[in-house]
Amino acid sequence: MPAVDCLNGVWQAPEEAKVSIFDRGFMFGDGVYEVIPVYHGKPFTLDRHLARLRGSLDEVKIRHPMTDAEFTSLATEAVERCGESPAVIYIQITRGVAPARSFEYPDVEPTVLVMAWPAAILRRENVVPQDFVTMDDIRWSMGQIKSVSLIAAGMLKNEAMARGVNDAILLRNGHVTEATSSNVFAVIGGKIVTPPKSNFLLHGITRDLVVELCREAGMELEEREITLDELKSADEIMITSSSQEVWPVGSLDGVPVGNGEAGVIWQQVDKLFQDNKARATA
Ligand code: PDD
Repeated sequence: MPAVDCLNGVWQAPEEAKVSIFDRGFMFGDGVYEVIPVYHGKPFTLDRHLARLRGSLDEVKIRHPMTDAEFTSLATEAVERCGESPAVIYIQITRGVAPARSFEYPDVEPTVLVMAWPAAILRRENVVPQDFVTMDDIRWSMGQIKSVSLIAAGMLKNEAMARGVNDAILLRNGHVTEATSSNVFAVIGGKIVTPPKSNFLLHGITRDLVVELCREAGMELEEREITLDELKSADEIMITSSSQEVWPVGSLDGVPVGNGEAGVIWQQVDKLFQDNKARATA
C-alpha cells in the first residue's frame, strides 16, 4: 500500500480523511508537525523528533495527546501499513476542533494525524547539486517551533522557483538563518560553519546530527553567524533536512559555489551521515 494515515485513531487512505472546517489547524494554522525519515523499514532519529514535537507543543500550549511510546507505536504501524522504504512519517497535531471561530483557545482534544508515504528522494541515486538564491527572511521570530503555519516558507520557496532555482537561503539582519525547509552549512576558510541555534531558525535534527558527527570525526566546525559576503565566497554550501539528508548547493544567486560540483567536504560529511544512518537502521 502506498500512503496511509491514521486520523484520531482511524486508519484510512489519506484521500478519505476529513477534518472539520472548525479545526484550528484549518482555520488558524494552529498546529505543529514532524517529518521523520524511514530507512529499511526503521524510523531514523525518531526519539529526537518526538522530543522536538513535545517542545513545539509546549511552546504553543497544545495538550500532549499521547506518550512517546504511543507515538512510536503509531509511527511503526504507519510504516508497516505503508510497506515502502525509504519513506517518511508525518505527524501533525492541531489544537483540535473549536465550537466556532474564535481567537480564544478552545478546551478541546487535539487532532492527531500520523501518516506515512514512500520517499523516492531518500533513495539518493543521483545527488545533483541544487541552485539557490538568497532572499530576505520574512518569516516570524519563533522559528524554533515546527509550526504548520508555512505560508511565508511557501511564498519564499515558490518565488525562488519562479526565478528558476530550487530554493532560497534566507537572511535576517544580514545573517543567514536557514533555507525554506532545511538548515544551512558553509565551508569558509577551511572550516565548516553553520548559524547558531536561535528563535529565527528550526533546530534541525539533521543539523544537530551533522554537527555531532563532524566534531566526533575531528572536523573543524563552528556554530556562528554567517554574513552574505561570507556565504557568497564560501568554498562549499550544503543544506540538511530529514527529507534531503545532506545535500550540496551548486550555485548561489546565479554564481557557481566552488566549481559548481558536490565538494570534497560535502562528500566527507555525507559519508559520516550515511555511515551513521546505516548503523542506526541496519
Ligand atoms: N523541514 N528548517 C526548516 C524551516 C524546516 O522546515 C526543516 C525541515 C529543517 C530541517 O530540519 P530536520 O533536519 O529536523 O528535518 C530546517 C521538513 C523536512 C519539512 O517541512 O518537510
